[in-house]
Amino acid sequence: MDSFSTVIRTASHEEHTEAETSTFMSDMLGGRLGVDAYARYTEQLWFVYEALEAGAERLASDPVAGPFIRPELFRLAALERDLAHLRGPRWRAGLSALPATRAYADRVRECAADWPAGYVAHHYTRYLGDLSGGQIIRAKAEKTWGFARKGDGVRFYVFEDIPNPAAFKRGYRELLDAVRADDLEKQRVVAECKRAFALNTAVFRALGEEFPLSA
Ligand code: HEM
Repeated sequence: MDSFSTVIRTASHEEHTEAETSTFMSDMLGGRLGVDAYARYTEQLWFVYEALEAGAERLASDPVAGPFIRPELFRLAALERDLAHLRGPRWRAGLSALPATRAYADRVRECAADWPAGYVAHHYTRYLGDLSGGQIIRAKAEKTWGFARKGDGVRFYVFEDIPNPAAFKRGYRELLDAVRADDLEKQRVVAECKRAFALNTAVFRALGEEFPLSA
Protein backbone atom coordinates (compact mmCIF):
# COMPACT_ATOMS: atom_id res chain seq x y z
CA MET A 1 0.00 0.00 0.00
CA ASP A 2 1.22 3.47 -0.84
CA SER A 3 2.27 5.75 1.98
CA PHE A 4 -0.04 8.63 2.87
CA SER A 5 2.42 11.20 1.47
CA THR A 6 2.47 9.31 -1.83
CA VAL A 7 -1.32 9.05 -1.90
CA ILE A 8 -1.66 12.82 -1.38
CA ARG A 9 0.93 13.63 -3.97
CA THR A 10 -0.55 11.30 -6.57
CA ALA A 11 -4.13 12.31 -5.85
CA SER A 12 -3.39 16.01 -6.30
CA HIS A 13 -1.21 15.61 -9.39
CA GLU A 14 -3.93 16.68 -11.81
CA GLU A 15 -4.83 19.70 -9.68
CA HIS A 16 -1.16 20.62 -9.51
CA THR A 17 -0.87 20.64 -13.29
CA GLU A 18 -3.98 22.76 -13.52
CA ALA A 19 -2.61 25.36 -11.08
CA GLU A 20 0.81 25.33 -12.69
CA THR A 21 -0.54 25.82 -16.20
CA SER A 22 -3.18 28.42 -15.32
CA THR A 23 -3.10 31.46 -17.58
CA PHE A 24 -1.87 33.75 -14.83
CA MET A 25 0.98 31.44 -13.78
CA SER A 26 1.99 30.77 -17.38
CA ASP A 27 1.99 34.48 -18.14
CA MET A 28 3.97 35.21 -14.99
CA LEU A 29 6.53 32.48 -15.65
CA GLY A 30 6.66 33.52 -19.28
CA GLY A 31 7.77 36.98 -18.18
CA ARG A 32 4.74 38.53 -19.84
CA LEU A 33 3.28 40.36 -16.83
CA GLY A 34 4.25 43.61 -15.20
CA VAL A 35 5.52 43.89 -11.65
CA ASP A 36 2.10 45.20 -10.62
CA ALA A 37 0.58 41.78 -11.32
CA TYR A 38 3.30 40.16 -9.23
CA ALA A 39 2.65 42.61 -6.39
CA ARG A 40 -1.08 41.94 -6.55
CA TYR A 41 -0.38 38.21 -6.39
CA THR A 42 1.95 38.71 -3.42
CA GLU A 43 -0.81 40.64 -1.65
CA GLN A 44 -3.15 37.68 -2.11
CA LEU A 45 -0.54 35.40 -0.57
CA TRP A 46 -0.45 37.68 2.48
CA PHE A 47 -4.09 36.85 3.25
CA VAL A 48 -3.51 33.13 2.83
CA TYR A 49 -0.44 33.04 5.09
CA GLU A 50 -2.09 35.29 7.62
CA ALA A 51 -4.82 32.64 7.91
CA LEU A 52 -2.32 29.76 7.99
CA GLU A 53 -0.04 31.34 10.56
CA ALA A 54 -2.51 33.13 12.82
CA GLY A 55 -3.89 29.70 13.71
CA ALA A 56 -0.49 28.08 14.05
CA GLU A 57 0.33 28.91 17.64
CA ARG A 58 -2.83 27.35 18.98
CA LEU A 59 -2.38 24.28 16.78
CA ALA A 60 1.21 23.74 17.90
CA SER A 61 -0.01 21.54 20.74
CA ASP A 62 -2.52 19.64 18.62
CA PRO A 63 -1.61 15.94 18.24
CA VAL A 64 -2.34 15.88 14.49
CA ALA A 65 -1.36 19.36 13.26
CA GLY A 66 1.24 20.13 15.94
CA PRO A 67 4.23 18.35 14.37
CA PHE A 68 3.77 20.38 11.17
CA ILE A 69 3.96 23.76 12.88
CA ARG A 70 7.57 24.75 12.32
CA PRO A 71 8.71 28.34 12.73
CA GLU A 72 11.28 27.97 9.94
CA LEU A 73 8.34 27.70 7.52
CA PHE A 74 6.58 30.89 8.59
CA ARG A 75 6.23 33.25 5.65
CA LEU A 76 4.27 36.21 6.94
CA ALA A 77 7.26 38.34 7.97
CA ALA A 78 8.97 37.70 4.63
CA LEU A 79 5.78 38.59 2.75
CA GLU A 80 5.55 41.85 4.67
CA ARG A 81 9.09 42.78 3.72
CA ASP A 82 8.36 41.96 0.09
CA LEU A 83 5.20 44.04 0.15
CA ALA A 84 7.00 47.01 1.69
CA HIS A 85 9.45 46.76 -1.19
CA LEU A 86 6.79 46.30 -3.85
CA ARG A 87 4.18 48.75 -2.61
CA GLY A 88 6.10 51.05 -0.31
CA PRO A 89 5.94 51.64 3.44
CA ARG A 90 2.17 52.20 3.36
CA TRP A 91 1.54 48.81 1.72
CA ARG A 92 -1.02 47.86 4.34
CA ALA A 93 -3.36 50.71 3.44
CA GLY A 94 -3.74 49.47 -0.14
CA LEU A 95 -4.02 45.78 0.70
CA SER A 96 -7.21 44.09 -0.48
CA ALA A 97 -8.28 40.50 -0.93
CA LEU A 98 -9.95 39.32 -4.11
CA PRO A 99 -13.21 37.45 -3.37
CA ALA A 100 -11.47 34.20 -4.34
CA THR A 101 -8.68 34.97 -1.87
CA ARG A 102 -11.18 35.71 0.86
CA ALA A 103 -12.88 32.37 0.23
CA TYR A 104 -9.51 30.59 0.39
CA ALA A 105 -8.42 32.30 3.62
CA ASP A 106 -11.84 31.68 5.18
CA ARG A 107 -11.55 27.97 4.47
CA VAL A 108 -8.06 27.83 5.98
CA ARG A 109 -9.30 29.59 9.10
CA GLU A 110 -12.26 27.24 9.33
CA CYS A 111 -9.97 24.21 9.25
CA ALA A 112 -7.55 25.80 11.73
CA ALA A 113 -10.45 26.35 14.12
CA ASP A 114 -12.32 23.04 13.82
CA TRP A 115 -10.40 20.44 11.91
CA PRO A 116 -6.64 20.10 12.46
CA ALA A 117 -6.24 17.33 9.85
CA GLY A 118 -7.89 19.58 7.27
CA TYR A 119 -5.48 22.32 8.27
CA VAL A 120 -2.63 19.91 7.50
CA ALA A 121 -3.99 19.56 3.94
CA HIS A 122 -3.73 23.33 3.49
CA HIS A 123 -0.35 23.45 5.18
CA TYR A 124 1.02 20.79 2.84
CA THR A 125 -0.42 22.38 -0.29
CA ARG A 126 1.21 25.74 0.41
CA TYR A 127 4.49 25.08 2.16
CA LEU A 128 5.62 22.02 0.24
CA GLY A 129 4.77 23.86 -2.96
CA ASP A 130 6.72 26.92 -1.86
CA LEU A 131 9.74 24.75 -1.16
CA SER A 132 9.43 23.16 -4.62
CA GLY A 133 7.96 25.14 -7.50
CA GLY A 134 8.33 28.33 -5.48
CA GLN A 135 12.02 28.26 -6.31
CA ILE A 136 11.21 28.35 -10.02
CA ILE A 137 8.91 31.33 -9.48
CA ARG A 138 11.61 33.13 -7.49
CA ALA A 139 14.22 32.73 -10.21
CA LYS A 140 11.76 33.96 -12.81
CA ALA A 141 10.72 36.97 -10.71
CA GLU A 142 14.34 37.98 -10.11
CA LYS A 143 15.03 37.84 -13.82
CA THR A 144 11.82 39.49 -15.02
CA TRP A 145 11.56 42.35 -12.55
CA GLY A 146 15.16 42.72 -11.47
CA PHE A 147 14.89 41.87 -7.78
CA ALA A 148 18.16 41.17 -6.03
CA ARG A 149 18.86 37.45 -5.83
CA LYS A 150 16.98 36.16 -2.77
CA GLY A 151 16.43 39.80 -1.75
CA ASP A 152 13.54 42.18 -1.20
CA GLY A 153 10.61 41.29 -3.41
CA VAL A 154 11.27 37.54 -3.36
CA ARG A 155 11.94 36.89 0.33
CA PHE A 156 8.73 34.91 0.47
CA TYR A 157 10.48 32.20 -1.57
CA VAL A 158 13.63 32.19 0.54
CA PHE A 159 13.60 29.86 3.52
CA GLU A 160 16.61 31.20 5.40
CA ASP A 161 16.34 28.56 8.10
CA ILE A 162 15.92 25.59 5.77
CA PRO A 163 19.37 25.07 4.27
CA ASN A 164 18.44 21.77 2.65
CA PRO A 165 14.89 21.86 1.20
CA ALA A 166 15.12 18.34 -0.24
CA ALA A 167 15.94 16.92 3.19
CA PHE A 168 13.24 19.05 4.77
CA LYS A 169 10.67 17.73 2.29
CA ARG A 170 11.68 14.17 3.08
CA GLY A 171 11.15 14.86 6.77
CA TYR A 172 7.83 16.49 5.99
CA ARG A 173 6.64 13.43 4.06
CA GLU A 174 7.59 11.31 7.06
CA LEU A 175 5.37 13.52 9.21
CA LEU A 176 2.51 12.99 6.76
CA ASP A 177 3.08 9.25 6.86
CA ALA A 178 2.96 9.34 10.65
CA VAL A 179 -0.44 11.09 10.83
CA ARG A 180 -2.67 8.91 12.93
CA ALA A 181 -6.03 8.81 11.23
CA ASP A 182 -8.27 6.08 9.86
CA ASP A 183 -8.75 5.56 6.14
CA LEU A 184 -11.91 7.61 5.95
CA GLU A 185 -10.27 10.57 7.64
CA LYS A 186 -7.27 10.23 5.33
CA GLN A 187 -9.61 10.31 2.35
CA ARG A 188 -11.11 13.51 3.72
CA VAL A 189 -7.65 15.04 4.02
CA VAL A 190 -6.89 14.10 0.41
CA ALA A 191 -10.16 15.72 -0.65
CA GLU A 192 -9.27 18.85 1.32
CA CYS A 193 -5.93 18.94 -0.40
CA LYS A 194 -7.65 18.93 -3.78
CA ARG A 195 -9.90 21.66 -2.51
CA ALA A 196 -6.84 23.66 -1.46
CA PHE A 197 -5.45 23.40 -4.99
CA ALA A 198 -8.82 24.43 -6.43
CA LEU A 199 -8.86 27.47 -4.12
CA ASN A 200 -5.43 28.44 -5.45
CA THR A 201 -6.55 27.97 -9.03
CA ALA A 202 -9.56 30.20 -8.38
CA VAL A 203 -7.24 32.96 -7.15
CA PHE A 204 -5.14 32.57 -10.30
CA ARG A 205 -8.28 32.78 -12.43
CA ALA A 206 -9.30 36.02 -10.74
CA LEU A 207 -5.79 37.44 -11.13
CA GLY A 208 -5.81 36.41 -14.79
CA GLU A 209 -9.00 38.40 -15.26
CA GLU A 210 -7.49 41.40 -13.52
CA PHE A 211 -4.31 41.25 -15.60
CA PRO A 212 -5.31 40.14 -19.08
CA LEU A 213 -2.45 40.23 -21.54
CA SER A 214 -4.44 41.97 -24.23
CA ALA A 215 -5.16 44.95 -21.99
C1 HEM B 1 4.15 27.55 -12.03
C2 HEM B 1 3.98 27.16 -10.84
C3 HEM B 1 4.53 25.90 -10.27
C4 HEM B 1 5.63 25.18 -10.60
C5 HEM B 1 6.62 25.46 -11.69
C6 HEM B 1 5.68 24.06 -9.69
C7 HEM B 1 6.65 23.09 -9.71
C8 HEM B 1 6.76 22.06 -8.81
C9 HEM B 1 7.77 21.04 -8.83
C10 HEM B 1 8.90 20.95 -9.85
C11 HEM B 1 7.53 20.20 -7.82
C12 HEM B 1 8.28 18.90 -7.52
C13 HEM B 1 9.26 19.01 -6.43
C14 HEM B 1 9.71 17.67 -5.92
O1 HEM B 1 9.42 16.62 -6.52
O2 HEM B 1 10.35 17.65 -4.90
C15 HEM B 1 6.37 20.70 -7.12
C16 HEM B 1 5.83 20.13 -6.02
C17 HEM B 1 4.74 20.63 -5.34
N1 HEM B 1 3.97 21.71 -5.71
FE1 HEM B 1 4.25 22.90 -7.29
N2 HEM B 1 4.63 24.13 -8.83
C18 HEM B 1 3.91 25.24 -9.16
C19 HEM B 1 2.77 25.68 -8.59
C20 HEM B 1 2.20 25.14 -7.46
C21 HEM B 1 1.02 25.63 -6.81
C22 HEM B 1 0.21 26.82 -7.25
C23 HEM B 1 0.81 24.82 -5.75
C24 HEM B 1 -0.28 24.89 -4.72
C25 HEM B 1 -0.66 25.97 -4.15
C26 HEM B 1 1.85 23.81 -5.72
C27 HEM B 1 1.99 22.82 -4.79
C28 HEM B 1 2.96 21.86 -4.79
C29 HEM B 1 3.09 20.84 -3.79
C30 HEM B 1 2.19 20.63 -2.61
C31 HEM B 1 4.21 20.07 -4.13
C32 HEM B 1 4.77 18.87 -3.36
C33 HEM B 1 4.33 17.56 -3.94
C34 HEM B 1 4.86 16.43 -3.10
O3 HEM B 1 6.02 16.11 -3.24
O4 HEM B 1 4.12 15.89 -2.27
N3 HEM B 1 2.66 24.04 -6.78
N4 HEM B 1 5.92 21.83 -7.75
